[in-house]
Amino acid sequence: MSGKKATLTIGDKSLDLPVHSGTMGPDVIDVKDVLSNGYFTYDPGFMATSACESKITFIDGDKGILLHGGYPIEQLAEKSDYLETCYLLLNGELPNAAQKEDFVSRVMNHTMVHEQLQFFYRGFRRDAHPMAVMCGVVGALSAFYHDNLDINDPEHRRIAAIRLIAKMPTMAAMSYKYSAGQPFMYPRNDLGYAENFLHMMFATPCADYKVNPIVARAMDRIFVLHADHEQNASTSTVRLTGSTGANPYACIAAGIAALWGPSHGGANEAVLKMLDEIGDVSKLDDFIKRVKDKNDSTKLMGFGHRVYKNFDPRAKVMKQTCDEVLTALGIHDPQLELAMKLEEIALNDEYFVSRKLYPNVDFYSGIILKAIGIPTSMFTVIFALGRTPGWIAHWLEMHSAPYKISRPRQLYTGPVQRDFVPMDKR
Ligand code: SDX
Repeated sequence: MSGKKATLTIGDKSLDLPVHSGTMGPDVIDVKDVLSNGYFTYDPGFMATSACESKITFIDGDKGILLHGGYPIEQLAEKSDYLETCYLLLNGELPNAAQKEDFVSRVMNHTMVHEQLQFFYRGFRRDAHPMAVMCGVVGALSAFYHDNLDINDPEHRRIAAIRLIAKMPTMAAMSYKYSAGQPFMYPRNDLGYAENFLHMMFATPCADYKVNPIVARAMDRIFVLHADHEQNASTSTVRLTGSTGANPYACIAAGIAALWGPSHGGANEAVLKMLDEIGDVSKLDDFIKRVKDKNDSTKLMGFGHRVYKNFDPRAKVMKQTCDEVLTALGIHDPQLELAMKLEEIALNDEYFVSRKLYPNVDFYSGIILKAIGIPTSMFTVIFALGRTPGWIAHWLEMHSAPYKISRPRQLYTGPVQRDFVPMDKR
């Protein structure tokens, strides 16, 4: 540790608190000793709270930097692929050729789900939101892999990680097929990871289906861009749930539930709905007026971020990928022009500039997903699929060292103690 300290003075009391330095990013003040001095810290929304030590991902929000295992997301998106990035998140190093071949083989040979799992889907209405289905069926995996799972055994934890990365695309595609009233398609181990997912999504038993390699590459890159993002709300949910010793499949289901919210992973679906509601460029000024109106709860979805007060580096890659994919597929999407015009207006408007609101990962992702045929209702499922290795990597990291159950405290402002009032006295 750094040996540095912070001195907290409260009345005539002074408290020396240790300050710890990481390899990158701000120092942290270790505040646990305030408890023995009769205080709690107070930080609603965890704006300035480090909940753990981690080696997996680093974000510099002011500089717009995102590193996985020290590697910039821009380089991983361009030069790596999703399963290699999964390996990096789980192991902290890029795999060599043999390690990559072994990892890909393990994942691609665990893609089938238990045949009985399909019956969980049939309990949902056909119009159920796919994220509701995913919360249910991923949680249900804990019923298939619970009794023989010892989370204190590193090998058991590793197998759970492989199973989740391998089966998430199968369950995601099944949630789409069920909503479309089409038969489930079994995974194919001879296809690449993204190619296999697209095959399960769009192939039918009636005809051969060939995945467009441009679309497969774009899908793989979208997965890379969503793979992990430090201690975001859903990852913190997985860590907190895991800190009770809960089943890993249940922990990931908790992460999926947290991701669903429109302030988090649900934003990609909300961006497309927002663009639909705006309609065309002639309505942009009125929309921006509503966003800036204090009495109007309208937000510019896909903009703003708790950490990035500069461009989200993933948004830049996503926008570039959007241009590439739409051009390669010969698609002209007026919503892309609308989004670019909206971005241009926002980036020059004092309301957004003063609040350091820039496009985030969700602003352009929906336009690419729509271009490759993914229905809007599946956008957040794609985010959950991509984020699975990040959630698991943090769950593994937490279990790799001694940990305590996460149990925050509060500032209580409710009624002071009082005696019960009988009915005839109320
Ligand atoms: C993700 O944490 C992660 O890493 C998440 C994520 C990941 O990979 O896991 O990056 C993925 O969730 C990206 C974010 C997706 N969400 C959206 O695009 C929804 C729209 N964005 C906002 O809801 C908001 O920006 C948040 C939730 C993302 C961040 O909220 P904060 O940090 O709590 O900031 P805030 O709400 O306190 O906003 C500060 C000010 C406020 O105005 P004032 O009260 O100061 O007047 O900025 C305003 C907000 O009203 N503001 C917006 C806005 N975002 C913030 N105003 C209009 N449109 C927006 N999008």
